[in-house]
Amino acid sequence: MEKQGKRQLRVVLVPCPIQGHINPMLQLGTILYSKGFSITVAHTNFNSPNPSNHPNFNFLLVPDVLNEFQSSSGDMMAVVLRLNDNCKAPFQECLAQLMKQHKTQDEVISCIIYDEIMYFAESVANQLKLPSIILRPLSANFFISRNALLQFKAGGNLFLTGLGSEEIVPNFHPFRWKDLPVSKFGSLETMSQLFENASHVGNSAAVIVNTMDFLEQPSLARILQQCQVPLFSIGLYKFAPAFSSSLLKEDMSCITWLDKQTKNSAIYVSLGSVTLIDENELAEMAWGLANSEQPFLWVVRPGSVRGSDWLESLPEGFIESIGERGCIVKWAPQKEVLAHQSVGGFWSHCGWNSTMESISQGVPVICRPNSGDQKVNARYLSHVWKVGLELENGVERGEVERVVRRLMVEKEGMEMRQRAKDLKKKAEHCIGKGGSSYNSLNKLVKFINSF
Ligand code: UDX
Repeated sequence: MEKQGKRQLRVVLVPCPIQGHINPMLQLGTILYSKGFSITVAHTNFNSPNPSNHPNFNFLLVPDVLNEFQSSSGDMMAVVLRLNDNCKAPFQECLAQLMKQHKTQDEVISCIIYDEIMYFAESVANQLKLPSIILRPLSANFFISRNALLQFKAGGNLFLTGLGSEEIVPNFHPFRWKDLPVSKFGSLETMSQLFENASHVGNSAAVIVNTMDFLEQPSLARILQQCQVPLFSIGLYKFAPAFSSSLLKEDMSCITWLDKQTKNSAIYVSLGSVTLIDENELAEMAWGLANSEQPFLWVVRPGSVRGSDWLESLPEGFIESIGERGCIVKWAPQKEVLAHQSVGGFWSHCGWNSTMESISQGVPVICRPNSGDQKVNARYLSHVWKVGLELENGVERGEVERVVRRLMVEKEGMEMRQRAKDLKKKAEHCIGKGGSSYNSLNKLVKFINSF
Protein backbone atom coordinates (compact mmCIF):
# COMPACT_ATOMS: atom_id res chain seq x y z
CA MET A 1 0.00 0.00 0.00
CA GLU A 2 1.50 3.30 -1.04
CA LYS A 3 0.74 6.66 0.42
CA GLN A 4 2.70 9.92 0.83
CA GLY A 5 5.03 9.16 -2.08
CA LYS A 6 6.51 5.72 -1.45
CA ARG A 7 5.67 5.28 2.22
CA GLN A 8 4.47 1.96 3.52
CA LEU A 9 1.58 1.99 5.99
CA ARG A 10 2.02 -0.06 9.13
CA VAL A 11 -0.67 -1.02 11.63
CA VAL A 12 0.38 -1.86 15.19
CA LEU A 13 -1.85 -4.45 16.89
CA VAL A 14 -2.13 -4.78 20.68
CA PRO A 15 -3.90 -8.09 21.50
CA CYS A 16 -4.87 -9.15 25.01
CA PRO A 17 -2.81 -12.28 25.79
CA ILE A 18 -5.70 -14.74 26.18
CA GLN A 19 -6.22 -17.30 23.39
CA GLY A 20 -9.81 -16.19 22.76
CA HIS A 21 -8.63 -12.56 22.39
CA ILE A 22 -5.41 -13.24 20.47
CA ASN A 23 -7.24 -15.14 17.71
CA PRO A 24 -9.55 -12.35 16.47
CA MET A 25 -6.76 -9.76 16.66
CA LEU A 26 -4.36 -11.87 14.60
CA GLN A 27 -7.18 -12.71 12.19
CA LEU A 28 -7.67 -8.95 11.76
CA GLY A 29 -3.91 -8.61 11.17
CA THR A 30 -4.05 -11.30 8.47
CA ILE A 31 -6.96 -9.55 6.76
CA LEU A 32 -5.28 -6.12 6.87
CA TYR A 33 -2.02 -7.64 5.61
CA SER A 34 -3.93 -9.05 2.62
CA LYS A 35 -5.17 -5.50 1.98
CA GLY A 36 -1.57 -4.24 1.77
CA PHE A 37 -0.77 -3.03 5.29
CA SER A 38 2.39 -4.04 7.14
CA ILE A 39 1.63 -5.50 10.55
CA THR A 40 3.44 -5.26 13.88
CA VAL A 41 2.09 -7.26 16.83
CA ALA A 42 2.97 -5.72 20.19
CA HIS A 43 2.87 -8.56 22.70
CA THR A 44 3.65 -9.32 26.33
CA ASN A 45 5.99 -12.04 27.65
CA PHE A 46 2.91 -13.69 29.12
CA ASN A 47 1.25 -15.97 26.52
CA SER A 48 3.38 -14.54 23.72
CA PRO A 49 2.52 -15.73 20.20
CA ASN A 50 5.05 -17.78 18.25
CA PRO A 51 6.50 -15.46 15.55
CA SER A 52 7.46 -18.43 13.35
CA ASN A 53 3.73 -19.15 12.86
CA HIS A 54 3.25 -15.67 11.41
CA PRO A 55 6.14 -14.99 9.00
CA ASN A 56 4.41 -11.94 7.49
CA PHE A 57 4.16 -10.04 10.76
CA ASN A 58 6.75 -8.16 12.80
CA PHE A 59 6.71 -8.66 16.56
CA LEU A 60 7.44 -6.15 19.29
CA LEU A 61 7.98 -7.41 22.84
CA VAL A 62 6.50 -5.16 25.52
CA PRO A 63 7.99 -6.30 28.87
CA ASP A 64 5.01 -6.99 31.16
CA VAL A 65 6.91 -7.36 34.48
CA LEU A 66 4.39 -9.98 35.70
CA ASN A 67 5.86 -12.28 38.31
CA GLU A 68 5.28 -16.03 38.13
CA PHE A 69 2.57 -15.94 40.78
CA GLN A 70 0.59 -13.31 38.86
CA SER A 71 0.86 -14.99 35.48
CA SER A 72 0.00 -18.48 36.76
CA SER A 73 -2.81 -17.46 39.14
CA GLY A 74 -5.57 -18.20 36.58
CA ASP A 75 -7.25 -14.93 37.63
CA MET A 76 -7.40 -13.35 34.18
CA MET A 77 -9.15 -10.23 35.45
CA ALA A 78 -6.26 -9.46 37.81
CA VAL A 79 -3.72 -10.27 35.07
CA VAL A 80 -5.37 -7.84 32.64
CA LEU A 81 -5.59 -5.04 35.21
CA ARG A 82 -1.93 -5.59 36.07
CA LEU A 83 -0.93 -5.52 32.39
CA ASN A 84 -2.66 -2.17 31.97
CA ASP A 85 -0.65 -0.81 34.91
CA ASN A 86 2.65 -2.35 33.86
CA CYS A 87 2.74 -2.03 30.09
CA LYS A 88 2.04 1.64 29.44
CA ALA A 89 5.56 3.04 29.90
CA PRO A 90 7.44 0.19 28.14
CA PHE A 91 4.96 0.22 25.23
CA GLN A 92 5.44 3.96 24.79
CA GLU A 93 9.20 3.52 24.79
CA CYS A 94 9.13 0.63 22.27
CA LEU A 95 6.79 2.51 19.97
CA ALA A 96 8.77 5.74 20.12
CA GLN A 97 11.86 3.78 19.05
CA LEU A 98 9.95 2.14 16.23
CA MET A 99 8.76 5.53 15.00
CA LYS A 100 12.36 6.79 14.99
CA GLN A 101 13.44 3.80 12.88
CA HIS A 102 10.55 4.39 10.49
CA LYS A 103 11.67 7.96 9.83
CA THR A 104 14.66 6.51 8.03
CA GLN A 105 12.78 3.65 6.34
CA ASP A 106 9.99 5.24 4.32
CA GLU A 107 7.41 3.73 6.61
CA VAL A 108 4.74 5.30 8.74
CA ILE A 109 2.59 3.93 11.55
CA SER A 110 -0.93 4.47 10.35
CA CYS A 111 -2.71 3.56 13.57
CA ILE A 112 -2.75 1.37 16.65
CA ILE A 113 -5.55 -1.19 16.94
CA TYR A 114 -5.94 -2.45 20.49
CA ASP A 115 -8.14 -4.97 22.27
CA GLU A 116 -10.55 -2.87 24.33
CA ILE A 117 -9.29 -4.38 27.58
CA MET A 118 -5.71 -3.33 26.75
CA TYR A 119 -6.82 0.30 27.12
CA PHE A 120 -3.34 1.50 28.16
CA ALA A 121 -2.64 1.53 24.40
CA GLU A 122 -5.10 4.38 23.92
CA SER A 123 -3.20 6.74 26.22
CA VAL A 124 0.11 5.77 24.58
CA ALA A 125 -1.36 6.52 21.15
CA ASN A 126 -2.49 9.95 22.45
CA GLN A 127 0.94 10.72 23.84
CA LEU A 128 2.60 9.83 20.55
CA LYS A 129 -0.11 11.56 18.48
CA LEU A 130 -1.04 8.37 16.67
CA PRO A 131 -4.63 7.47 15.74
CA SER A 132 -6.09 4.48 17.54
CA ILE A 133 -8.95 2.06 16.91
CA ILE A 134 -10.62 -0.25 19.42
CA LEU A 135 -11.22 -3.92 18.65
CA ARG A 136 -14.09 -5.41 20.62
CA PRO A 137 -13.38 -9.13 20.12
CA LEU A 138 -16.51 -10.38 21.92
CA SER A 139 -20.17 -10.30 20.90
CA ALA A 140 -22.29 -7.14 20.58
CA ASN A 141 -24.80 -8.82 22.92
CA PHE A 142 -22.08 -9.04 25.56
CA PHE A 143 -21.51 -5.28 25.40
CA ILE A 144 -25.21 -4.65 25.89
CA SER A 145 -25.40 -7.07 28.82
CA ARG A 146 -22.28 -5.50 30.30
CA ASN A 147 -23.94 -2.09 30.14
CA ALA A 148 -26.96 -3.55 31.91
CA LEU A 149 -24.72 -4.84 34.67
CA LEU A 150 -22.99 -1.48 35.10
CA GLN A 151 -26.29 0.39 34.99
CA PHE A 152 -27.96 -1.76 37.66
CA LYS A 153 -24.87 -1.73 39.82
CA ALA A 154 -24.69 2.07 39.68
CA GLY A 155 -28.40 2.24 40.65
CA GLY A 156 -27.76 -0.12 43.58
CA ASN A 157 -30.30 -2.65 42.20
CA LEU A 158 -28.00 -5.54 41.47
CA PHE A 159 -27.91 -7.20 44.84
CA LEU A 160 -31.62 -6.60 45.50
CA THR A 161 -32.60 -8.50 42.38
CA GLY A 162 -30.27 -11.44 42.79
CA LEU A 163 -27.92 -12.25 39.97
CA GLY A 164 -28.92 -15.90 39.84
CA SER A 165 -32.59 -15.23 39.11
CA GLU A 166 -34.49 -16.67 36.11
CA GLU A 167 -36.46 -13.45 35.65
CA ILE A 168 -35.97 -11.28 32.57
CA VAL A 169 -33.93 -8.12 33.20
CA PRO A 170 -36.25 -5.11 32.57
CA ASN A 171 -35.45 -3.44 29.19
CA PHE A 172 -32.84 -6.09 28.43
CA HIS A 173 -34.83 -8.93 26.88
CA PRO A 174 -33.85 -11.81 26.38
CA PHE A 175 -31.39 -11.71 29.28
CA ARG A 176 -32.34 -13.25 32.59
CA TRP A 177 -30.48 -11.95 35.63
CA LYS A 178 -28.49 -15.16 35.66
CA ASP A 179 -27.24 -14.52 32.10
CA LEU A 180 -25.51 -11.23 32.96
CA PRO A 181 -21.78 -11.55 32.35
CA VAL A 182 -20.48 -11.75 35.89
CA SER A 183 -17.02 -13.24 35.94
CA LYS A 184 -16.00 -16.06 38.25
CA PHE A 185 -12.66 -14.32 38.67
CA GLY A 186 -12.17 -11.41 41.06
CA SER A 187 -14.75 -9.30 42.87
CA LEU A 188 -17.72 -7.48 41.34
CA GLU A 189 -15.83 -4.25 42.07
CA THR A 190 -12.74 -5.34 40.10
CA MET A 191 -14.89 -6.57 37.25
CA SER A 192 -16.91 -3.32 37.05
CA GLN A 193 -13.67 -1.35 37.10
CA LEU A 194 -12.35 -3.33 34.14
CA PHE A 195 -15.68 -3.09 32.26
CA GLU A 196 -15.86 0.67 32.82
CA ASN A 197 -12.30 1.28 31.67
CA ALA A 198 -12.86 -0.91 28.61
CA SER A 199 -16.14 0.83 27.69
CA HIS A 200 -14.40 4.20 27.53
CA VAL A 201 -13.77 5.08 23.87
CA GLY A 202 -11.54 8.04 24.82
CA ASN A 203 -9.82 9.55 21.82
CA SER A 204 -10.03 6.42 19.72
CA ALA A 205 -11.20 7.08 16.18
CA ALA A 206 -13.43 4.03 15.64
CA VAL A 207 -14.64 0.73 17.04
CA ILE A 208 -14.46 -2.67 15.33
CA VAL A 209 -16.85 -5.35 16.61
CA ASN A 210 -16.05 -8.98 15.81
CA THR A 211 -19.50 -10.12 14.72
CA MET A 212 -21.85 -10.67 11.80
CA ASP A 213 -24.80 -8.28 11.47
CA PHE A 214 -27.46 -10.92 10.90
CA LEU A 215 -26.68 -12.49 14.29
CA GLU A 216 -26.80 -9.41 16.46
CA GLN A 217 -28.64 -6.65 14.62
CA PRO A 218 -30.66 -5.31 17.62
CA SER A 219 -27.60 -5.11 19.88
CA LEU A 220 -25.48 -3.53 17.14
CA ALA A 221 -28.18 -0.91 16.58
CA ARG A 222 -28.19 -0.19 20.31
CA ILE A 223 -24.39 0.19 20.38
CA LEU A 224 -24.52 2.45 17.33
CA GLN A 225 -26.95 4.79 19.12
CA GLN A 226 -24.43 5.29 21.93
CA CYS A 227 -21.28 5.30 19.80
CA GLN A 228 -19.85 8.70 18.88
CA VAL A 229 -17.36 7.26 16.39
CA PRO A 230 -17.66 5.01 13.30
CA LEU A 231 -18.42 1.37 14.04
CA PHE A 232 -17.32 -1.52 11.81
CA SER A 233 -18.90 -4.93 12.42
CA ILE A 234 -16.79 -7.64 10.80
CA GLY A 235 -16.97 -11.40 11.35
CA LEU A 236 -13.21 -11.83 11.42
CA TYR A 237 -13.02 -15.62 11.60
CA LYS A 238 -14.95 -16.06 8.34
CA PHE A 239 -12.32 -14.03 6.46
CA ALA A 240 -9.39 -15.99 7.83
CA PRO A 241 -10.76 -19.50 8.57
CA ALA A 242 -7.59 -21.45 7.84
CA PHE A 243 -5.41 -19.21 9.94
CA SER A 244 -4.10 -20.63 13.24
CA SER A 245 -2.78 -18.58 16.14
CA SER A 246 -2.87 -21.41 18.63
CA LEU A 247 -0.64 -21.02 21.68
CA LEU A 248 -0.75 -24.79 22.29
CA LYS A 249 0.32 -27.55 19.93
CA GLU A 250 -2.63 -28.91 17.97
CA ASP A 251 -2.88 -32.71 17.97
CA MET A 252 -3.68 -33.60 14.32
CA SER A 253 -4.21 -37.30 15.10
CA CYS A 254 -7.82 -36.51 16.00
CA ILE A 255 -8.54 -35.74 12.34
CA THR A 256 -7.53 -39.31 11.44
CA TRP A 257 -9.92 -40.53 14.15
CA LEU A 258 -12.71 -38.30 12.76
CA ASP A 259 -12.07 -39.67 9.26
CA LYS A 260 -13.18 -43.10 10.56
CA GLN A 261 -16.53 -41.87 11.93
CA THR A 262 -19.76 -41.56 9.98
CA LYS A 263 -21.32 -38.27 8.91
CA ASN A 264 -22.62 -36.05 11.76
CA SER A 265 -22.09 -38.88 14.28
CA ALA A 266 -19.42 -37.45 16.57
CA ILE A 267 -19.72 -34.87 19.31
CA TYR A 268 -16.75 -32.55 19.83
CA VAL A 269 -16.16 -31.47 23.43
CA SER A 270 -13.96 -28.50 24.34
CA LEU A 271 -14.14 -25.88 27.07
CA GLY A 272 -11.66 -23.40 25.57
CA SER A 273 -8.40 -22.03 26.88
CA VAL A 274 -9.18 -20.79 30.39
CA THR A 275 -12.04 -22.83 31.92
CA LEU A 276 -11.15 -24.90 34.97
CA ILE A 277 -13.26 -27.81 36.21
CA ASP A 278 -13.02 -30.04 39.23
CA GLU A 279 -12.47 -33.80 39.35
CA ASN A 280 -16.13 -34.51 40.01
CA GLU A 281 -17.23 -32.60 36.89
CA LEU A 282 -14.63 -34.48 34.83
CA ALA A 283 -16.04 -37.80 36.06
CA GLU A 284 -19.66 -36.78 35.35
CA MET A 285 -18.69 -35.62 31.85
CA ALA A 286 -16.82 -38.89 31.25
CA TRP A 287 -19.67 -41.21 32.31
CA GLY A 288 -22.30 -39.07 30.58
CA LEU A 289 -20.36 -39.27 27.31
CA ALA A 290 -19.71 -43.00 27.70
CA ASN A 291 -23.36 -43.78 28.51
CA SER A 292 -24.66 -41.72 25.57
CA GLU A 293 -23.03 -44.32 23.28
CA GLN A 294 -22.11 -41.61 20.76
CA PRO A 295 -18.58 -41.21 19.35
CA PHE A 296 -16.83 -38.25 20.97
CA LEU A 297 -13.68 -36.20 20.51
CA TRP A 298 -12.79 -34.62 23.84
CA VAL A 299 -10.19 -31.89 24.46
CA VAL A 300 -8.90 -32.07 28.03
CA ARG A 301 -6.45 -29.19 28.24
CA PRO A 302 -3.49 -30.00 30.54
CA GLY A 303 -3.99 -28.14 33.83
CA SER A 304 -7.72 -27.60 33.23
CA VAL A 305 -8.77 -30.13 35.89
CA ARG A 306 -8.02 -28.77 39.34
CA GLY A 307 -5.49 -30.96 41.13
CA SER A 308 -4.46 -32.94 38.01
CA ASP A 309 -1.83 -32.54 35.33
CA TRP A 310 -3.96 -34.18 32.66
CA LEU A 311 -6.06 -37.39 32.71
CA GLU A 312 -5.08 -38.88 36.09
CA SER A 313 -8.50 -38.04 37.54
CA LEU A 314 -10.52 -39.89 34.92
CA PRO A 315 -12.60 -42.56 36.66
CA GLU A 316 -11.24 -46.08 36.79
CA GLY A 317 -12.50 -48.26 33.95
CA PHE A 318 -13.57 -45.31 31.79
CA ILE A 319 -10.85 -45.57 29.11
CA GLU A 320 -11.39 -49.33 28.77
CA SER A 321 -15.15 -48.88 28.52
CA ILE A 322 -15.03 -46.48 25.57
CA GLY A 323 -12.48 -48.29 23.38
CA GLU A 324 -12.28 -46.71 19.90
CA ARG A 325 -15.51 -44.77 20.41
CA GLY A 326 -13.74 -41.90 22.16
CA CYS A 327 -10.67 -39.85 21.32
CA ILE A 328 -9.08 -37.60 23.96
CA VAL A 329 -6.46 -34.98 23.08
CA LYS A 330 -4.71 -32.10 24.86
CA TRP A 331 -5.57 -29.51 22.21
CA ALA A 332 -7.28 -29.88 18.83
CA PRO A 333 -7.18 -28.00 15.52
CA GLN A 334 -10.69 -26.77 16.40
CA LYS A 335 -11.52 -25.02 13.14
CA GLU A 336 -10.68 -28.15 11.15
CA VAL A 337 -12.58 -30.29 13.62
CA LEU A 338 -15.75 -28.20 13.34
CA ALA A 339 -15.47 -28.25 9.54
CA HIS A 340 -15.18 -32.06 9.49
CA GLN A 341 -18.24 -33.86 8.15
CA SER A 342 -18.23 -36.40 11.01
CA VAL A 343 -18.85 -33.71 13.62
CA GLY A 344 -22.56 -33.31 14.31
CA GLY A 345 -22.47 -31.39 17.61
CA PHE A 346 -20.21 -29.31 19.85
CA TRP A 347 -20.28 -29.35 23.66
CA SER A 348 -18.84 -25.93 24.37
CA HIS A 349 -18.22 -23.41 27.13
CA CYS A 350 -19.58 -20.89 24.60
CA GLY A 351 -16.56 -18.56 24.33
CA TRP A 352 -17.28 -16.11 21.52
CA ASN A 353 -14.72 -17.61 19.11
CA SER A 354 -16.09 -21.10 19.63
CA THR A 355 -19.62 -19.73 19.15
CA MET A 356 -18.74 -17.96 15.89
CA GLU A 357 -16.73 -20.94 14.62
CA SER A 358 -19.60 -23.33 15.36
CA ILE A 359 -22.19 -21.11 13.67
CA SER A 360 -19.90 -20.58 10.68
CA GLN A 361 -19.54 -24.34 10.25
CA GLY A 362 -23.21 -25.15 10.82
CA VAL A 363 -22.67 -27.21 14.00
CA PRO A 364 -25.27 -27.05 16.83
CA VAL A 365 -24.09 -26.69 20.42
CA ILE A 366 -24.54 -28.12 23.91
CA CYS A 367 -24.03 -25.04 26.05
CA ARG A 368 -22.08 -25.27 29.27
CA PRO A 369 -21.14 -21.65 29.99
CA ASN A 370 -18.72 -21.11 32.81
CA SER A 371 -18.22 -17.41 33.32
CA GLY A 372 -18.63 -13.87 31.93
CA ASP A 373 -19.77 -13.46 28.31
CA GLN A 374 -20.20 -17.23 27.87
CA LYS A 375 -23.58 -17.03 29.64
CA VAL A 376 -24.73 -14.36 27.19
CA ASN A 377 -23.62 -16.44 24.19
CA ALA A 378 -25.31 -19.55 25.60
CA ARG A 379 -28.57 -17.63 26.02
CA TYR A 380 -28.48 -16.54 22.38
CA LEU A 381 -27.47 -19.96 21.06
CA SER A 382 -30.30 -21.70 22.87
CA HIS A 383 -33.06 -19.10 23.08
CA VAL A 384 -32.65 -16.78 20.08
CA TRP A 385 -30.78 -18.61 17.32
CA LYS A 386 -32.21 -21.94 18.54
CA VAL A 387 -29.12 -23.94 17.68
CA GLY A 388 -28.15 -24.84 21.25
CA LEU A 389 -29.31 -26.92 24.20
CA GLU A 390 -28.40 -25.75 27.68
CA LEU A 391 -27.22 -28.15 30.35
CA GLU A 392 -29.68 -26.49 32.72
CA ASN A 393 -29.25 -28.85 35.67
CA GLY A 394 -25.49 -28.80 35.85
CA VAL A 395 -23.09 -31.49 34.80
CA GLU A 396 -24.55 -34.76 36.05
CA ARG A 397 -24.01 -38.00 34.10
CA GLY A 398 -27.72 -38.75 33.51
CA GLU A 399 -28.38 -35.21 32.28
CA VAL A 400 -25.27 -35.30 30.06
CA GLU A 401 -26.32 -38.60 28.50
CA ARG A 402 -29.85 -37.27 27.80
CA VAL A 403 -28.67 -33.97 26.31
CA VAL A 404 -26.04 -35.62 24.10
CA ARG A 405 -28.66 -38.03 22.74
CA ARG A 406 -31.20 -35.22 22.23
CA LEU A 407 -28.67 -33.35 20.11
CA MET A 408 -27.04 -36.22 18.28
CA VAL A 409 -29.83 -38.71 17.58
CA GLU A 410 -33.26 -37.22 18.24
CA LYS A 411 -35.48 -35.23 15.87
CA GLU A 412 -35.00 -32.08 17.95
CA GLY A 413 -31.24 -32.27 17.33
CA MET A 414 -31.68 -32.85 13.61
CA GLU A 415 -33.85 -29.74 13.39
CA MET A 416 -31.19 -27.77 15.23
CA ARG A 417 -28.54 -29.04 12.85
CA GLN A 418 -30.67 -27.82 9.95
CA ARG A 419 -31.03 -24.36 11.56
CA ALA A 420 -27.26 -24.31 12.15
CA LYS A 421 -26.69 -25.10 8.43
CA ASP A 422 -29.00 -22.17 7.56
CA LEU A 423 -26.89 -19.87 9.75
CA LYS A 424 -23.75 -21.15 8.02
CA LYS A 425 -25.21 -20.06 4.67
CA LYS A 426 -26.01 -16.62 6.08
CA ALA A 427 -22.44 -16.35 7.38
CA GLU A 428 -21.12 -17.16 3.90
CA HIS A 429 -23.36 -14.51 2.41
CA CYS A 430 -22.09 -12.01 5.00
CA ILE A 431 -18.50 -12.17 3.76
CA GLY A 432 -19.37 -12.46 0.05
CA LYS A 433 -19.39 -9.43 -2.25
CA GLY A 434 -22.04 -6.98 -1.02
CA GLY A 435 -22.46 -8.78 2.33
CA SER A 436 -22.42 -6.76 5.56
CA SER A 437 -18.97 -7.88 6.78
CA TYR A 438 -17.52 -7.50 3.28
CA ASN A 439 -18.78 -3.90 3.05
CA SER A 440 -17.72 -3.06 6.58
CA LEU A 441 -14.20 -4.35 5.94
CA ASN A 442 -13.82 -2.21 2.81
CA LYS A 443 -15.01 0.83 4.76
CA LEU A 444 -12.50 0.09 7.51
CA VAL A 445 -9.62 -0.12 4.99
CA LYS A 446 -10.65 3.24 3.50
CA PHE A 447 -10.94 4.69 6.99
CA ILE A 448 -7.40 3.62 7.96
CA ASN A 449 -6.10 4.99 4.67
CA SER A 450 -7.67 8.35 5.48
CA PHE A 451 -5.44 8.97 8.55
C1 UDX B 1 -11.79 -16.23 26.25
C2 UDX B 1 -12.99 -16.24 27.20
O1 UDX B 1 -12.90 -17.33 28.09
C3 UDX B 1 -14.30 -16.27 26.43
O2 UDX B 1 -15.39 -16.21 27.31
C4 UDX B 1 -14.33 -15.09 25.48
O3 UDX B 1 -15.52 -15.12 24.70
C5 UDX B 1 -13.10 -15.03 24.60
O4 UDX B 1 -11.92 -15.10 25.39
P1 UDX B 1 -11.59 -18.90 25.43
O5 UDX B 1 -12.12 -19.41 26.72
O6 UDX B 1 -10.28 -19.32 25.03
O7 UDX B 1 -11.73 -17.30 25.34
O8 UDX B 1 -12.70 -19.39 24.33
P2 UDX B 1 -13.00 -19.05 22.83
O9 UDX B 1 -13.43 -17.64 22.64
O10 UDX B 1 -13.95 -20.07 22.38
O11 UDX B 1 -11.60 -19.21 22.10
C6 UDX B 1 -10.92 -20.41 22.07
C7 UDX B 1 -10.13 -20.48 20.78
O12 UDX B 1 -9.21 -21.54 20.91
C8 UDX B 1 -11.01 -20.76 19.57
O13 UDX B 1 -10.60 -19.94 18.49
C9 UDX B 1 -10.75 -22.21 19.24
O14 UDX B 1 -10.77 -22.52 17.85
C10 UDX B 1 -9.35 -22.42 19.79
N1 UDX B 1 -9.19 -23.81 20.26
C11 UDX B 1 -9.87 -24.27 21.34
C12 UDX B 1 -8.34 -24.63 19.58
O15 UDX B 1 -7.74 -24.21 18.57
N2 UDX B 1 -8.18 -25.91 20.01
C13 UDX B 1 -8.83 -26.41 21.09
O16 UDX B 1 -8.61 -27.59 21.42
C14 UDX B 1 -9.70 -25.56 21.77
